[in-house]
Amino acid sequence: MRTTEVMTAVVVRTPGGPEQLHLETRPRPVPGPRQLLVRVRASALNRGDTSQRAGGYTLPPGVTSPLLGIEVAGEVEAVGDEVRAFQPGARVFGLVDGGGYAEACLMEEGLALPIPEGWSFVEAAAAPEAYCTAHESLVELGGLGPGQSVLIHAAGSGIGTACIQVAREVGATVFVTVGSDEKLRRCLALGALAGVVRTRENFADAVPEWTKGRGLDVVEDFVGGAALGRNLRALRFGGTLMLVGLMDGIRGDLDLKQVVLRRLQLKGMALRPLPLAAKVAVVQRFRERWLPRLVDGRVRAVIDTTFPLARVADAHRYMESNASFGKILLEL
Ligand SMILES: NC(=O)c1ccc[n+]([C@@H]2O[C@H](COP(=O)([O-])OP(=O)(O)OC[C@H]3O[C@@H](n4cnc5c(N)ncnc54)[C@H](OP(=O)(O)O)[C@@H]3O)[C@@H](O)[C@H]2O)c1
Repeated sequence: MRTTEVMTAVVVRTPGGPEQLHLETRPRPVPGPRQLLVRVRASALNRGDTSQRAGGYTLPPGVTSPLLGIEVAGEVEAVGDEVRAFQPGARVFGLVDGGGYAEACLMEEGLALPIPEGWSFVEAAAAPEAYCTAHESLVELGGLGPGQSVLIHAAGSGIGTACIQVAREVGATVFVTVGSDEKLRRCLALGALAGVVRTRENFADAVPEWTKGRGLDVVEDFVGGAALGRNLRALRFGGTLMLVGLMDGIRGDLDLKQVVLRRLQLKGMALRPLPLAAKVAVVQRFRERWLPRLVDGRVRAVIDTTFPLARVADAHRYMESNASFGKILLEL
């Protein structure tokens, strides 16, 4: 194989801890008719990557790359026969099916966006997953709007920091749970009105005061597990629990009577299993609603740290330490 036909990629040798992440040589992917081959310059970490590495993540049907990494920014290296919107050399960013932790990866033409002028590759790679997830869960499915209230759990996460800003921008009042006073201070600076430190206080005790006894319109839940009952009780009559992540586990104790009598809505949201056409629509909504605000600075992707690709194991360790605020990225 010629050197242009191979690339360096992060490979999980055996499902397990960060020590299982190794740089290896792999064949460079070949774009299909409507795909771009992107020379990756920055790739963002997501919690799902750590689950995938550990063997606890079932890849949705249709995902062709077993490699980690679901959002990247870089330069177009080659295009498929039917691609019209991009030429080699174009600077693009967006969601990918997998394979982002590598020198080159495939991106569907319909999911690719031109990188706005003046943006670095790192800035570009930090935005798509966070803002697409925030908009789809809070606005499209959660129905969050002006004058409503939302509690965002794990609000200092890469996705959570985007959620605070999206909720603020649609005119909602934002409450948060986080792991430290410093994270709480930073969430308030992003637009949250109040919050609790999860290791010290119980959010359920604060909700009546926050909402003057009414209850929350929406709970944005990345945690799942044991807090299910408390999340449901924190909602107003007819409120919505958005289940978007399961960091505390996949099982919870569900009081069906509460759901029925208080007409609660419990909705799940995952971007990755969506069929391509639905994902293209998600990206279109991001492009219309949030990209202009990212460009003019009304909202911003919060970036914690950038690691070189060779330190990918340290990047995963850092993510799993729960110390980060905002996105962690790999630079290539
Ligand atoms: N459904 C979707 O399409 C979709 C897409 C992307 C991400 N997600 C989900 O969004 C969530 C955030 O992802 P991310 O990549 O932004 O994460 P991240 O930046 O790594 O942040 C995660 C934060 O969550 C908190 N946390 C960790 N374990 C927790 C636990 N057991 N209970 C409560 N809080 C915990 C920690 O902050 P504190 O210690 O400060 O609380 C940690 O820093 C994840 O659940 C992920 O699966 C869903």
